[in-house]
Amino acid sequence: MQALMLLLWTGALLGSGSCQNNAGSPEGSPDHETTAGSVEEEDPFFKVPVNKLAAAVSNFGYDLYRVKSSSSPAANVLLSPLSVATALSALSLGAEQRTESSIHRALYYDLITNPDIHGTYKELLASVTAPQKNLKTASRIVFEKKLRIKSSFVAPLEKSYGTRPRVLTGNSRTDLQEINNWVQAQTKGKIARSTRDLPSEISILLLGVAYFKGQWVTKFDPKKTSLQDFHLDEERTVRVPMMSDPKAVLRYGLDSDLNCKIAQLPLTGSMSIIFFLPLRATQNLTMIEESLTSEFIHDIDRELKTVQAVLAVPKLKLSFEGEVSKSLQDMKLQSLFDSPDFSKITGKSIKLTQVEHRAGFEWNEDGAGTTPSTELQPARLTFPLDYHLNQPFIFVLRDTDTGALLFIGKILDPRGT
Ligand SMILES: *[C@@H]1O[C@H](CO)[C@@H](O)[C@H](O)[C@H]1NC(C)=O
Repeated sequence: MQALMLLLWTGALLGSGSCQNNAGSPEGSPDHETTAGSVEEEDPFFKVPVNKLAAAVSNFGYDLYRVKSSSSPAANVLLSPLSVATALSALSLGAEQRTESSIHRALYYDLITNPDIHGTYKELLASVTAPQKNLKTASRIVFEKKLRIKSSFVAPLEKSYGTRPRVLTGNSRTDLQEINNWVQAQTKGKIARSTRDLPSEISILLLGVAYFKGQWVTKFDPKKTSLQDFHLDEERTVRVPMMSDPKAVLRYGLDSDLNCKIAQLPLTGSMSIIFFLPLRATQNLTMIEESLTSEFIHDIDRELKTVQAVLAVPKLKLSFEGEVSKSLQDMKLQSLFDSPDFSKITGKSIKLTQVEHRAGFEWNEDGAGTTPSTELQPARLTFPLDYHLNQPFIFVLRDTDTGALLFIGKILDPRGT
């Protein structure tokens, strides 16, 4: 049980009731059954098919994040797992039973009773890519050269995922250029062209790309941005541009089990960022990471209380380009790389060979308004509350409408990867 304590009123520590989350155990990844239990009993939010699907693919996203983070303990992590989930979900349209079940288990679809997952996925994509969200995300399936693809695979792929499969020409220069052009078109040029060569032995390549630049509901005053200390750990400190707001209105809670201070800041377009900041400077964020699930985040979101605080947030501009194939193999998807059954796609024997992710993410002072919205009524504190993101933290960017996880980051050093 997570106990979320809130610092309120005269400094008394009030327990706000514990979250009903029992999905994240400190020892390991959440298992399917407890996640299902907590979803089905408790919250009408998850009864809406698109929210339920968003929770499932987001749980895949938290799994992917955990695997990626544990394989790079000393580096920043930036992922938009939704784009990878979308590519996998689309690929499952071409998978026969055994292979389809592997993908469905990884995406937590085995917990969904809705028979029209792909139709609902279309709804989810339409919701998170609505223009006001500022999120650019796209996914694509690329096949080995000259492969003949069944039209019975192409039609539902286009219908639900709005994407056409790409078949390579075999000329690696042309193929790389075409893929780069596609990424540029999908992200309005926000993600740089890749200079890496295409792998020579592609059978199926999945590509997920995403770009996001945050617009705060309340913008920061650029005159208050200055170079300040960021503690990489208990010994090392660097100077980074830090934005600040001496009278920020944010939603806040102290999690006494995870030993971290949680804050949420709203973004325009019905999105928000939740920060997890350990009480002391450490690069080991394992405890927090292990508890991340869609249900846990949903509970936190409900329990945070509006407060006024002295807020400091480092400016951030991060990018990622690379393969996540190894991470997926560690997530019980090894069989897709060995001997999967994609006979709904083609008569030839094909298998997954690469999963590529390219992501760009930034925030600076930009935002919509200069004053907090009037509907927020901060609890009046008789002591000053500081929320300074001046040591390693985790952030989760969510779509508030569906609860979908859009980006997740582990920021050990805001100066970039
Ligand atoms: C990180 O913290 C976890 C839980 O607090 C602990 O089990 C683990 O050994 C730590 N890892 C390292 C590398 O110190």
